[in-house]
Amino acid sequence: MPDNEATLEIAHLVRDFKPADGDLMGALHAVQHHYGYVPKIAMKVVARQLRLSEAKVYGAATFYSEFRLTPPPETLISWCSGPTCRLKGGDRIRQALETELGIGMGQNTPDNKLGLHFGQCNGTCEHAAQLWVDGKVTGPLTAADAVRLVRNLKDS
Ligand code: FES
Repeated sequence: MPDNEATLEIAHLVRDFKPADGDLMGALHAVQHHYGYVPKIAMKVVARQLRLSEAKVYGAATFYSEFRLTPPPETLISWCSGPTCRLKGGDRIRQALETELGIGMGQNTPDNKLGLHFGQCNGTCEHAAQLWVDGKVTGPLTAADAVRLVRNLKDS
């Protein structure tokens, strides 16, 4: 999408947020909800709407981990970093996936097909060690199961 079209679209998305009302988080959430991430051009538009500096908007977007600054992968694999999953082989799964995908935790594959990100215990420890594939609990898994799973996802 050309920059001027994106600017208009983002301006429309954040049109109801007001300066000095503490609306920065709300405006960033609105942008992320629409695009799946906060594009760079949105910083300028949100800053203008809220009469803030771009540096302040950028600072908030990078400080809070709930905001993504890059497009989400087609499939997001979340690795559970909780204690039960780790006791049941989670660290081996993490290592195997990082090796298989050639990326580190918090990164996406260069084709943006798969992303490997941290997850926190969600209370479904009976499925440990587990991964979440686009939020769906998948487990219990061994490292070999996890590698098979991502190979299938890569090939699909
Ligand atoms: S520790 Fe992984 S789901 Fe609880």
